[in-house]
Amino acid sequence: MKICAIGAGYVGGPTMAKIAEKCPDIEVVVVDINEKRIAEWNTDHLPVFEPGLLEVVKAARGRNLHFSTEIESNLVDADIVFICVNTPTKTYGEGAGKAANVTYVENCSRLIARCAKDGAIIVEKSTVPVRTAETVKKILHHRAASRRFEVLSNPEFLAEGTAMSDLEHPNRVLIGGDTTPAGQAAIQAVVDVYARWIPRQNILTSNVWSSELSKLTANAFLAQRVSSINAISALCEKTGADVSEVSRAIGADERIGSRFLNASVGFGGSCFQKDILNLVYLCEAAGLPEVAEYWHQVVIMNDYQKRRFATHVVRTMFNTVAGKRLAIFGFAFKKDTNDTRESAAIYVCRDLLIERAHLVICDPQVEPETALQDLRACGAFDSGVDESNVTFNPDPYEATSGADAILVLTEWDVFRDLDYERIREQMRLPAFVFDGRNLLSGEQLTQLGYQYSSIGKNGAAAVDSSHAKED
Ligand code: UDX
Ligand code: UDX
Repeated sequence: MKICAIGAGYVGGPTMAKIAEKCPDIEVVVVDINEKRIAEWNTDHLPVFEPGLLEVVKAARGRNLHFSTEIESNLVDADIVFICVNTPTKTYGEGAGKAANVTYVENCSRLIARCAKDGAIIVEKSTVPVRTAETVKKILHHRAASRRFEVLSNPEFLAEGTAMSDLEHPNRVLIGGDTTPAGQAAIQAVVDVYARWIPRQNILTSNVWSSELSKLTANAFLAQRVSSINAISALCEKTGADVSEVSRAIGADERIGSRFLNASVGFGGSCFQKDILNLVYLCEAAGLPEVAEYWHQVVIMNDYQKRRFATHVVRTMFNTVAGKRLAIFGFAFKKDTNDTRESAAIYVCRDLLIERAHLVICDPQVEPETALQDLRACGAFDSGVDESNVTFNPDPYEATSGADAILVLTEWDVFRDLDYERIREQMRLPAFVFDGRNLLSGEQLTQLGYQYSSIGKNGAAAVDSSHAKED
């Protein structure tokens, strides 16, 4: 059997590496139009940083795992084709800012129609709007009428940073297809691949539309939990409640569960915002404005949380950060990834650059050029701010030398274990720490002389002092 995946990104690369590892008799080829990316997949400096990924790639690469830019020749004899291209939010025309741009999926469908063999199974792995499979089918039907293809939906639920263990032990794999005998046979063929290492009861099958919608819904629910706890964090800061204590208390209720209740500077990543906006657009298009508005609020709350954090930094630092040196601890959207897409850090840094702060960005994996591109794209330098106001230093001790404040924006473990006494000695006083991930011990840092603030905590003092003023 031969599997060909189009798109060697954060999803296509790790997923196919895992399939190749588990199925040594299946030839797995990952193709991509991006030559640089493919070249990197063929070195030990992979374009995607994921703990454990390099080991899996090295074990299978050259054996039954290949990375190539030769798309057409690899499609010709593939039995299963996974579409893993990106589906970013549309930036133009109808649905701009909300709808998913499915141009790349359509391009893949045309390529498949041109090259793939009769009977090939086409699997949508990319996250797509509900009923995209219909578009894929129509293109295949019109352009390759003499060949038959089954189109399945198999959304990927891996989270970055834990991709390899998520792929090894997924809590479920979802495969949607037609209810016809041919559709069911295609589902079975893909089930058989995953069943090599995943218990059969964890492999769910459904109709294709349910499968497409389940991916959007899963991400919307997860993001909703983060926005819900972040909304409560704002109230904690006004009331003296501690958001970690609230999370623990509500998470102990099995009906709620304890995961995804960490208050933060805001969620990021390539999926949450994009998928919710896509859901909002679908609801609007379906004539369901109340449903659309309900889900839109999750993104609005997230934007509020990012803005609120930056505003708090400026207010706390005596209403100005102009010319002040701020050490930015973490730029990735979460720990253990080099991915910065929609990272909260981008927007916090933009707001502080507009306030004329000088930023020193310290992240163990993010390339400086990637961060600069993100900042350019979100308009951080549009108001006359010079790019020289941003520098990079991967060493946290050097990054904090002469700094006025530290902003923890990604929860990398390395930031937890630093010698904060040594760091404070080389900072300008008063030395501020703004912990956007509730990563550090506020008590310890306060004892060391820092002005420490975090998300959703330490509100009592503020409330008490404002009452005192009123008195
Ligand atoms: C994936 C999904 O597929 C996306 O729908 C989901 O929401 C997030 O995860 P991801 O792997 O993160 O996307 O995207 P990216 O890292 O950008 O990789 C996509 C790759 O597809 C890129 O390397 C790009 O060069 C490639 N591509 C894109 C093609 O090979 N052909 C195209 O026509 C378009
Ligand atoms: C998400 C889904 O979890 C995954 O199933 C889907 O396939 C793709 O989208 P990902 O975006 O890679 O995965 O990471 P995730 O762990 O979900 O984190 C998303 C964002 O939410 C990060 O910025 C993270 O820091 C933030 N987050 C998460 C919080 O702020 N608090 C939490 O409690 C959990």
